[in-house]
Amino acid sequence: CSRTSPPPPQQRLRRVVVFPLPFQGHINPMLQLADALHDAGGLAITVLHTAFNAPGPAARRPEFQFVAVHDGVPDDVAASGDVIDIIEAMNTAMEADEGSAALRDVLASVITDEDRPPVACMVFDANLLAVPAATAAVGLKTMVLRSASAACLRCLMAYPMLHQKGYLPPQESKLYMPVKELPPLRVRDLFYSSWSDQEKMRNLFARSIEAMNTSSCLVINTLDVLETTELDRIRDELHIPMVLAPGPLHKLSSKSTGSRLREEDYDCIKWLDKHPPESVLYVSFGSLASLDANEFLEVAWGLATSGHRFLWVVRADSVRGLDGPDFPNGFGATVEGRGKVVGWAPQQEVLAHRAVGGFWTHSGWNSTLESIVEGIPMICSPQFADQMMNTRYVVKIWGVGFELEGTLERDKIEKAIRKLMEEREGAEIRERAKELKKKVANCLKSSGSSHIAIDTLMKHILSM
Ligand code: UDX
Repeated sequence: CSRTSPPPPQQRLRRVVVFPLPFQGHINPMLQLADALHDAGGLAITVLHTAFNAPGPAARRPEFQFVAVHDGVPDDVAASGDVIDIIEAMNTAMEADEGSAALRDVLASVITDEDRPPVACMVFDANLLAVPAATAAVGLKTMVLRSASAACLRCLMAYPMLHQKGYLPPQESKLYMPVKELPPLRVRDLFYSSWSDQEKMRNLFARSIEAMNTSSCLVINTLDVLETTELDRIRDELHIPMVLAPGPLHKLSSKSTGSRLREEDYDCIKWLDKHPPESVLYVSFGSLASLDANEFLEVAWGLATSGHRFLWVVRADSVRGLDGPDFPNGFGATVEGRGKVVGWAPQQEVLAHRAVGGFWTHSGWNSTLESIVEGIPMICSPQFADQMMNTRYVVKIWGVGFELEGTLERDKIEKAIRKLMEEREGAEIRERAKELKKKVANCLKSSGSSHIAIDTLMKHILSM
């Protein structure tokens, strides 16, 4: 990639249209890829977005064009927060006659816009099932970005086999049985396990794989060094000319855009500045995972009684059934000076801060990658989707964390925090995390695999 100043928009050779699935964990990597293509590759960018979770003003880079697409998600479905229902409503509306015509019209107006550079292709999230037909109708070439791990994609590809061989639907008595075709996973680590509607998932997975197979390139937000075997298998088994792993995408551009669906509280960085190196546990369960009121109390008291410093992200919707978090009496006084709570943190900066020595995470893929790249050891509390399999890789393959299993209870939490922050086992995990950080840093050098992947992607786009 060229490191000279990027040309102004009108002098750019080509434009790329990006269309992320509208959830924080998917919008972030798509916009980060757009940043990399724009800043390092000199491409112009058009971002398609839905009204649901539309990027706010802070997320709209002035150099990018933002174009709204009708999503048709009913208000009650949007308010439910149910990810699968929201995706299904969006796909149904965009595939219906009116919705698909509207999507085609938007695409046609985007690609015929003569005030901007010619469009080379669209990069989209393959969960957006209406895109392949609409792009084919207007003659727009496509590429797919997967924002989860390569292991996650392999599971998705293996879904029919997992059913045929009886791993799925999961049975309580077989949860710890190894899935010998997908080591190191066990039945409980398969992300579909927690989703009740298997038929809906089967359809969604089959169609998103079909969408990948009709694209010229698949970009996965991972690194060769982390998932060599998984990437090799994907390259063998999918019929896609090019499978690239340029992750972690947030490290490929100095801008590091996120969706900024929530406002980040930068006071926590000043607060971190006051504390010694590696002394603070950062606690965040991503943008979707939540706790019930009792779990929330247990987490609060577990953090308090551990005696350790912590920075805890508590979103307004972190506690199920409550409008806002209800901290226990005496919590504030107990943790004064060593505990800070924020509504939303600048997570990448937090994890890169010298004061942070551990991350208690829900093991979303972005959080996992962001922690690995900074060499931060993890306590994993996975809840749903790919979080169980990410945890399994963190524990078994990379050895950079351990799982806090079972119900959240203050004593267990306190023990887990002490294990990570002060015991020998925690120190060994921390050492491994630092070693892995070095390997990842090598991939990010100009001769490293992630940079080579983004260069290859650029050349491919410019050849379109
Ligand atoms: C969802 C799924 O839950 C996850 O399993 C899947 O891999 C991606 O989609 P989410 O729960 O939001 O994502 O988790 P994660 O993938 O970790 O993404 C969260 C993003 O929000 C990260 O990029 C993180 O840096 C950011 N974040 C989180 C903040 O910027 N501030 C915060 O306070 C918390």
